[in-house]
Amino acid sequence: MRVGILTGGGDCSGLNAVVRAVVHTAHGRSGRTVIGYRHGWRGLVDGDAVELSVAGTDALLASGGTALGTARYHPHDHKGAEARVLETLERDRIGALIVVGGDGTLTAANRLAESGARIIGVPKTIDNDVAGTDRSVGFDTALSIATEAVDRVRTTAESHDRLMVVEVMGHHTGWLAFGAGIAGGAHAILAPESPFDIDEITGALRRRHRKASFSIVVVAEGAVPIPGSMDLGAAAGPSGSIVAGAVGERVRAELAVRTGFESRLVVLGHVQRGGPPTPADRLLASRFGVAAVRAVEAGASGVMTGLVGDDVRTVSLSVAATGPRVAPGSLVETARALLG
Ligand code: F6P
Repeated sequence: MRVGILTGGGDCSGLNAVVRAVVHTAHGRSGRTVIGYRHGWRGLVDGDAVELSVAGTDALLASGGTALGTARYHPHDHKGAEARVLETLERDRIGALIVVGGDGTLTAANRLAESGARIIGVPKTIDNDVAGTDRSVGFDTALSIATEAVDRVRTTAESHDRLMVVEVMGHHTGWLAFGAGIAGGAHAILAPESPFDIDEITGALRRRHRKASFSIVVVAEGAVPIPGSMDLGAAAGPSGSIVAGAVGERVRAELAVRTGFESRLVVLGHVQRGGPPTPADRLLASRFGVAAVRAVEAGASGVMTGLVGDDVRTVSLSVAATGPRVAPGSLVETARALLG
């Protein structure tokens, strides 16, 4: 049986490690041919494919991005595209398709699995918010980049006696904001899970500046204030389209006026998605890649790999469509306890 693979949605570090693990595992035991589709679902719609070899993918383990390319393209949003995907799978004699993506790509995968395609999902996103898995590929690398950025901002904040606002990605959820904010020792963390009270943040920072000369505030791009407490202006919340830096700049400007502290904004943006994956992401990507091929061999379909505790299991793909998976209350509470 021939196996297909695609990477869809926003890129992240660790995608190539998944591809490498899939190719090695599929070739290894039963000598299966692996076909890679370029630019996510578009490759299946356009028939843009390449045969992947062990030699050609071996060096991918530690590289960033995705050698297959990716796109924010969902077949169900385009007339006739789902039918074309099914035709390509049949024409290319693909017995099972491995789909590496976030909730949008995996939701499309679930729809196609329900239409009869044999599909195994692998969750990835720096936002870490795919439902059904405790971790998604790419999160650990982004967390490490964002934490290092907060560490670096600290010394310049201290040198200049400034309030530094660091905006991280996280459209619907604050896994990155809470993670990098807590690990980097930020003095306030604003994330979608917990609408922020600008009065409370202002008060905490003022109290802090009686003894210290600088502060760091980490803001998720999808952070929202308590309704009616502050106008975000053009900056969109979790349900709107995100403009990088918009929420961060509104928060910086508001805090600057309220506190009188000199302030600067740092927008980390796509830097969080680039560069080599951390060891933890290489490990997770490799485990997921192997597990996906084992699921193919076991005859499974309509499932995705998931990290449950320390174990890799398969869970129903339909779970991915129930996301986003928000950060737990204990993480929100840790951030609140460390405010100021
Ligand atoms: O889905 C991951 C993510 O990093 C979000 O946090 C962010 O809003 C989005 O991608 C930005 O994606 P792009 O600008 O590449 O479309």
